[in-house]
Amino acid sequence: MPKQKDKKELSWGINDIIYQVYPRSFQDTTGNGIGDLQGVISRLDYLEKVLRVNAIWLSPIYKSPMKDFGYDISDYYQVDPIFGNMKIFNQFVKEAHSRNIKILMDFVPNHTSDQHKWFIESRSAKKNPKRNWYIWHKPKPDGSPPNNWLSRFGGSAWQFDEKTGEYYMHSFLPCQPDLNWRNPEVRKEMNKILRFWLDKKVDGFRLDAVYHIIKDAKFRDNPINPRYIPGHDDPYRQFLNVYDRGRPETLDILNQFCDTVGEYKNKFLVSEVFYKTKISEIKKYYKLCQKGQHSPFNFNFIRLPWSAWAYRNFLDNYKENLSEGDWPNFVLGNHDRPRVASRLESRKKARLVAMLQLTLKGMPFIYYGEEIGMSDVPIKPSQQKDPWGKNVSGFDLGRDSHRTPMQWSTKKYAGFSKTKPWLPVARNYLIFNVKKELADNKSILNLYNNLINFRKKSEAITDGIYYSLDIRTKDIFAYVRETTKEKILIILNFASKRKKLSLPFSQAELVCNTYLTKKSGQKINLNKLYLRPFEGYVLKLKK
Ligand code: GLC
Repeated sequence: MPKQKDKKELSWGINDIIYQVYPRSFQDTTGNGIGDLQGVISRLDYLEKVLRVNAIWLSPIYKSPMKDFGYDISDYYQVDPIFGNMKIFNQFVKEAHSRNIKILMDFVPNHTSDQHKWFIESRSAKKNPKRNWYIWHKPKPDGSPPNNWLSRFGGSAWQFDEKTGEYYMHSFLPCQPDLNWRNPEVRKEMNKILRFWLDKKVDGFRLDAVYHIIKDAKFRDNPINPRYIPGHDDPYRQFLNVYDRGRPETLDILNQFCDTVGEYKNKFLVSEVFYKTKISEIKKYYKLCQKGQHSPFNFNFIRLPWSAWAYRNFLDNYKENLSEGDWPNFVLGNHDRPRVASRLESRKKARLVAMLQLTLKGMPFIYYGEEIGMSDVPIKPSQQKDPWGKNVSGFDLGRDSHRTPMQWSTKKYAGFSKTKPWLPVARNYLIFNVKKELADNKSILNLYNNLINFRKKSEAITDGIYYSLDIRTKDIFAYVRETTKEKILIILNFASKRKKLSLPFSQAELVCNTYLTKKSGQKINLNKLYLRPFEGYVLKLKK
C-alpha cells in the first residue's frame, strides 16, 4: 500500500491559540511515570474539542541525555526513546493536522548536549574540524577563565577542558556547550535541521534562548551591575549582560531562520529573543520574515505589576508600537515561570488575566494546565529534578513546581500515569482536574471554554480595533473591541474589593463574567454596575 500522505496545508492566523505541551508531564502511556508522544496523541481530542487550540508548541522531544530535560540535545534528527520514535512522531503530526491543529516544534539553536557527536569531536583536539563549532578560548595567563561571563544556571560560563587545555563556553549547564554561531558551517547545519523537520510537515518553530545565541567577538568582560545585592539577588545578576547576550547580530541570525522557513509555505516562528525589553526595542524583531511570520515572545504579562494602570499602559503602548502585519502575542506562563495562579496568588486574578488574554487581538499562549487553574506544587529537596534549582540554591529558581503532571481526573496520579510520576502530582488535583471541571459550569476550564467559543465567533474580538477607556474608577481597566457591526466592552476589576461603576453606555448584554455566575445574554445596567473583587465582564454593546 502506498504511504498515505498528509496533504493538509494549514495556515496561521493572527488570533491562533497556541497551547504549550511539556511532553514529560502531559500524559504517560508507557507506565514509566514520564509523559510521551503517544500520550499527547491520546489527548488531541481534548485540545481540539474543549480548548479548540490552533497549534501545539511541543517542548523538545529530540534525543537527549535529559540533563535539562530535552533542552540538551544530542541528536537533532531523532526522537528520544522516552517520548517514542519517528513513526509515532509522524503519526502525531498527521493526527494533529487532521484536527486542524498545527505543530510548533521547540528548536534549541544556542547549545547542544556535550554528548552530541559534534561536541565529542570538537573537544577531542584543537585541530579537529569541529573545534570551531563551539566557543573555545585559552585561559588567562594565571589559568583562570577568559572573562567574567556567568552561566544562567550558576558559576562561570567557562568550563576548563583538561585534554586540550582550553575553556569552552556554556550559557547554561557545563553539559550544554554553546555553539559558535559566527561559524558559517554551524549556521548551515542548523538551518538544515529546520528543513528536516519542515519536510516532516511541522508548521513552525519556537526558537529557544535566542537572546544568548551570539556573543561579543572580542570576549569583553560584562560591566558590574550597580544594583546587585549580594546574598539577596541571584548571583547571575552581578554583571550586566552586555557582551554575552542580546548582541545586535542576533537579528541576522533570526533573519536567516526566517529565510529558511520561508522556503516553505505557511510557517510561523516565535522566538525567545528577550526576557525583558522595551517595546520600542522588540519592535524591530517583528519585521523579519519576507514569507511567513515571526514574532518575538511578549512576556510582559508575566512581569507587569498588578495594577489596572500598568496593564492599560502596556497594552496601549504595545498597540501603538506594532504595525499592520505584526502579530502580537500574550504569554501568561511557561515551563520556566511560576504558574499564573501561583504568581498572582489567586485563581480569581488568573481568571481575570485569562479574560484579558483571550479578548485581545493576537496569539494567546496557554501553558498546559493554566486552563484548569493548576498551581505550583511544593517540591521537597529530595524530589528536586531541575538542575537550575539544584545548582543555585536559596533563590527559589527551581522550575519543577511548575512542571508537574497534568491533572486529568480524580484517578490516582490524576489520570496522568499508572505509576508514580517523575514529579509529584498536585495535592489539589481532586478539585482541579479536567474531568471535574468539565462537569462544573462555573469552573475555570469552563471560563476558558466560554471565552474561546466567543472569541472564535466574534468578529470584534478577532478583527476589531482596540481602544481603552478613561474610567475614573481606580483599579478598573476597560477597553472596547469594535468593528462596524459589533462592539464588545471588556471591564476588568483589578481591586480586591467590590467596585461600583457607572458607564455612559446604554444597556449591554452579557457574554460572560469571570465568576461564571451570570447568565449569558442577560441585560446588564451599565449606569450602576457592581463588580466583585477581581471580577471581569465581557459585554456586547448596542451599535
Ligand atoms: C530556555 C528554555 C529553558 C532551558 C534553557 C536552556 O530558556 O526555555 O527551559 O532550560 O533555554 O536550554
